[in-house]
Amino acid sequence: MQHDGDSARDLVILGAGGFAREVAWLVKHVNRSGTATWNTLGFWSHDPGQIGMTINGLPVVDPRQVTGRAGEVYAVAAIGDPRARERAVDEAGRAGFRFATLVHPGVLLDELTVTIGPGSVICAGCILTTNIAIGSHVIVNLDCTIGHDCVIEDFATLSPGCHLSGHTTVRRGAYLGTGLVTVEQHEIGRDATVGAQAAVVKDIGAGITAIGVPARPKGAP
Ligand SMILES: CC(C)(COP(=O)(O)OP(=O)(O)OC[C@H]1O[C@@H](n2cnc3c(N)ncnc32)[C@H](O)[C@@H]1OP(=O)(O)O)[C@@H](O)C(=O)NCCC(=O)NCCS
Repeated sequence: MQHDGDSARDLVILGAGGFAREVAWLVKHVNRSGTATWNTLGFWSHDPGQIGMTINGLPVVDPRQVTGRAGEVYAVAAIGDPRARERAVDEAGRAGFRFATLVHPGVLLDELTVTIGPGSVICAGCILTTNIAIGSHVIVNLDCTIGHDCVIEDFATLSPGCHLSGHTTVRRGAYLGTGLVTVEQHEIGRDATVGAQAAVVKDIGAGITAIGVPARPKGAP
């Protein structure tokens, strides 16, 4: 899924926070599994306080240090917030980077019927069953389960431990908190936020922040 050739490809991780460190760790597992070989150049940050630091053995680089080689280097955005991730992807895309798709080698999925777009990250412990479409630059964090016929659109974030029943649709840029569950056949709207431990039993509208069991718009009586 990552690439066809045998040689190591250079990779820069967009972001330098906690999830970026977790993605660097994921890349080590991919490399050990032999499904692909990535040479991680470092984390990319605009924060002058971080540039020049070494984090877990990898340098934090100023984007200008690598954009000159953009055509040869892959990027992946390891930023949990969908809006911030989209900004980083826009910048890297304009500079000419291609995007790596990273799937932890322990993930279980039906390779014939599950599609995953460029720049998406599927973390350890996830199970994606059949006929699932994952868009581009999606994050599926640790230990999520995604049932049959789910659609997860570009830039959506699933925090750890989300469980999506069959035919769940997650629209572009939606943010799902840790431990969220859905009842089948429901939709979480574009740019919606649904809190940790929420149970989605009705559709959640675009841009809404919803919490609770069952999930209701925040502030609703
Ligand atoms: C839903 C969420 C986005 C709301 O954030 P917020 O707007 O900053 O909300 P606040 O923390 O100000 O809380 C507002 C109220 O909602 C309640 N609340 C917040 N999150 C809640 C949740 N997930 N479930 C139930 N109630 C929640 C708070 O207790 C508070 O109630 P109060 O007014 O009675 O005191 C956030 O709490 C959340 O759940 N984020 C997901 C975090 C996560 O999963 N991160 C994963 C990182 S890998």
